[in-house]
Amino acid sequence: MKIGILASGKGSNAQAIMDRIAAGVLHASVEIVLSNRADAQVLDRARKAGVKSMTLDRRSFATRKEYDAALADLLRQHGCELVVLAGYMLVLGKNFLDAFPGRVINIHPSLLPSFPGTHGAESALAHGVKLTGPTVHFVEEEIDTGPIIIQAAAPVMAGEDADSLKNRIHALEHRIYPQSIQWLAEDRIRVEGRQVFLEPGSRKSAPRDGDWLVWPPLEEGF
Ligand code: GRF
Repeated sequence: MKIGILASGKGSNAQAIMDRIAAGVLHASVEIVLSNRADAQVLDRARKAGVKSMTLDRRSFATRKEYDAALADLLRQHGCELVVLAGYMLVLGKNFLDAFPGRVINIHPSLLPSFPGTHGAESALAHGVKLTGPTVHFVEEEIDTGPIIIQAAAPVMAGEDADSLKNRIHALEHRIYPQSIQWLAEDRIRVEGRQVFLEPGSRKSAPRDGDWLVWPPLEEGF
């Protein structure tokens, strides 16, 4: 499956995706990495991985609609079948989403629908939740609301600071994002309204011990 990545910053998720592809685990190819920022680290990562990258500055376009149309054109020209948002800090409008129906996914650093917006991890920490973690979801016009593909739970450690928590969430992101893309590449994802179903694959999908995470841990007898 041919994918295009949109990113504005560090690009550790883009890196994880390119690494899984290089390792032969994720059967996809990154056709282009697009950033709205010329100084985004993700562009260096793409260059190092031999992936085409480009900057498209929002300020060079009069309206968001024109900017989105230029983005969509580039992705189409590169044959992208899936658009992967990996720390992309601009909001995509209806026209863009209509150009790739059900084919735009995002990763967010909290267990949606809790703590949407730009500070998902910090807000969860400030709220005092015991479990948090990343969500991969389809993108809709409203921010951080689309059908959920996968989530992973990370326990919040006592006295932990935001940086430490964000690092642990990131480590989970780097596993669940490539996995989601592989499921889409295998055409195993079915969406019905808000529900996302994963068709069984060749691997054993029955839950194993430890697949459920409860935090703090349950004590004996419970
Ligand atoms: C991640 O925390 C992701 O959840 C959010 O933006 C961040 C991107 O990180 N959407 P990186 O640029 O992939 O390192």
